[in-house]
Amino acid sequence: MTKPVTLTIDGQSVTVPFGTLIVDAAKKIGIDIPVFCYHPKMEPAGMCRQCLVEIGRPLIDRATGQPVMEDGQPKVQFGPKLETSCTTPVSEGMVVLTRSDKARAAQKEILEFLLTSHPLDCPVCDKGGECPLQNLTLTYGPSESRFLYDEKHHAEKNVPLGDKIFLDRERCIQCGRCVRFQEQVAGDPVLAFYQRGRSTDIITNSEPPFDSIFSGNTTDICPVGALTTRDFRFGARPWEMKAAASICSLCPVGCNLTFNTRREAGAGGKVVIKRAMPRQNEQVNEIWICDRGRFDWHSMESDDRLSRPLVRKDAKLASASWDKAIDLAGDRLAEAKGKTVVLASGRLSNEDLFNLKQLADGLQAEAILYTSMGGGEWTTTHGVSAGTNFADLGPGTTIIVAAADLYQAAPIWYLRVKQASERGAALVTVGASRLEKYAGRMVLPAKGETAKAVAGLAKDRLITEAENLVILYGSNGLDPKESAALASACAGLLSGRQGKPNNGLIGVWPRANEQAAWELGFRPVENLQTVFDKAAVVYIAGADPIGDGTLRPKSKKPFLIVQELFLTGTAQQADVVLPVQACTERDGSYTSGERRVQRFYPAVPVHGQSKADYAVTALIAAKLGIQVEGRSAGLALERAAAVVPAFAGLSYGRLAEVVEQWPIVGRGDMYYGGTTYENSQGLGVHLGSAENKKA
Ligand code: SF4
Ligand code: SF4
Ligand code: FES
Repeated sequence: MTKPVTLTIDGQSVTVPFGTLIVDAAKKIGIDIPVFCYHPKMEPAGMCRQCLVEIGRPLIDRATGQPVMEDGQPKVQFGPKLETSCTTPVSEGMVVLTRSDKARAAQKEILEFLLTSHPLDCPVCDKGGECPLQNLTLTYGPSESRFLYDEKHHAEKNVPLGDKIFLDRERCIQCGRCVRFQEQVAGDPVLAFYQRGRSTDIITNSEPPFDSIFSGNTTDICPVGALTTRDFRFGARPWEMKAAASICSLCPVGCNLTFNTRREAGAGGKVVIKRAMPRQNEQVNEIWICDRGRFDWHSMESDDRLSRPLVRKDAKLASASWDKAIDLAGDRLAEAKGKTVVLASGRLSNEDLFNLKQLADGLQAEAILYTSMGGGEWTTTHGVSAGTNFADLGPGTTIIVAAADLYQAAPIWYLRVKQASERGAALVTVGASRLEKYAGRMVLPAKGETAKAVAGLAKDRLITEAENLVILYGSNGLDPKESAALASACAGLLSGRQGKPNNGLIGVWPRANEQAAWELGFRPVENLQTVFDKAAVVYIAGADPIGDGTLRPKSKKPFLIVQELFLTGTAQQADVVLPVQACTERDGSYTSGERRVQRFYPAVPVHGQSKADYAVTALIAAKLGIQVEGRSAGLALERAAAVVPAFAGLSYGRLAEVVEQWPIVGRGDMYYGGTTYENSQGLGVHLGSAENKKA
């Protein structure tokens, strides 16, 4: 801890690091000071004055420079005026009164003042039930106002700020959290204040409007119902919804989510997802998610989902029982003997991939990863591991981002790399990225020379003298062979750093769980068409190579077993189609690109007759006399932990462990950190390091 400072708040002594703000010191010992403009993830602005407190400081004798003593104690002198606790750092011997009559009166008056320009439409406001203004008014505010209701400021409601977010201008209390989030956290300064006084408005100054992939976060931190999402507004009340912990499956970051669900008359009495919210994991996504993670889950609830097994009969796919479909798949696999291919993608969970690999091994079949990016051999040996946290990266660290547009491919890594560079980490970009303005050095290699350009950094001081070196590599503009060569060049720079916290390689994979596929032994092949044409049976899970044009089935094609959510182009050509559950309907775990294994939980009931991927594979394996764990996802992971060195020691119990995180968010109040959910379901565990693997 930097120099500790001891002070007293409402009679409680507390010791905190030098530089801590009074409001945070109070929060740490359970004392709530009401705030609106302050947010612990942003620089204080001191705009709303809600956090006024009385502050006393030890009186110093000017002649001696020593504290004046009274009754054996330093004499404390209170200032004549109240001070904002969100802008005032603690100091030694300080005495803070947050509940004195004077402080209470001021807090009450500020609320009374804020409410003079507030429409009081709580009964129809989307923030109702989780609104800091509502909550703080009930706790600290006046029961009556001296202002005239008819003189309230009115403005046209519901101005769209871009296509995802609406602004209700008369609800805005001009706290500036949204503007500062976009400037300071997102690095997309697309919101601003316009006009002055009562006419002050939030506007967007970008074209297209509110042009930021992080826009939804402003609705979480807005302390009133001024900012709402098009997706959720008027959708449900917070107290009507249940919360299920999940992991975003849309990119390799693995952001922690909460799905809010509700039984819905409009959906025929089904339980449906109403919204996705961030769940705090300071080592992964902090308290943020990108707009893809927040809004792009709807396809999982589509009516087009497969709901029962299908088998080909008279050249057409027809509904069949699970028994019949599994029998047919099992019989054909048994007949095919070694001429079987298993093809899987990073859509699958760790348990699904492990079971598929067990089956492939049992059949002596090739286990192929369907991907457009290579190099995972290097992320398994040189990948970041235990103890790595972007939040710790600053001076002394060099970060290389090669062939990756993190803003699109892994938005929260974009934020975290940007923050590390703002804290003092050196950033080198290789190829086009949107991080140029934060980069200390930009390398723009000629086409086909990305790996060479990275290898060329080997003697660079920024690399050789860096205490920590983290490299994120992707496949922008590269074919799988080129991205594999790039990974190899990156690993060359990381030689000798394997297993060291805050050092290593991170794959910016096209799918969420590709890192696990590599760890579990799946490998891409150079010519999938040739492999496909030679096989007698191809078992495809979570991939659509025919639909996306990678494979062209010939008139005599192998027997095709497809495990999918939808009737994809590949499923349409299949002989057996096995419907599977979406990640929102089952439990499981994913391995992020940072090699952190994290658990997700069921949020909504199972669609139709679908089963979890790992369970479907276990049914087929049982038919073939191969031992594969299908009873539960937890048992499947434990089996993986027993046989895969990198997964050693993992269990669902360990994945569910939590520790106290800062800032405190999402408890009874919402005023401090916004509506982000507290994480009580697990922070996940890093896969073992390369050093562990050798042991
Ligand atoms: S829209 Fe919300 S977050 Fe932005 S200034 Fe207004 S009250 Fe604050
Ligand atoms: S950054 Fe990736 S994992 Fe996180 S919310 Fe966005 S798409 Fe999902
Ligand atoms: S001035 Fe402190 S919270 Fe606004």
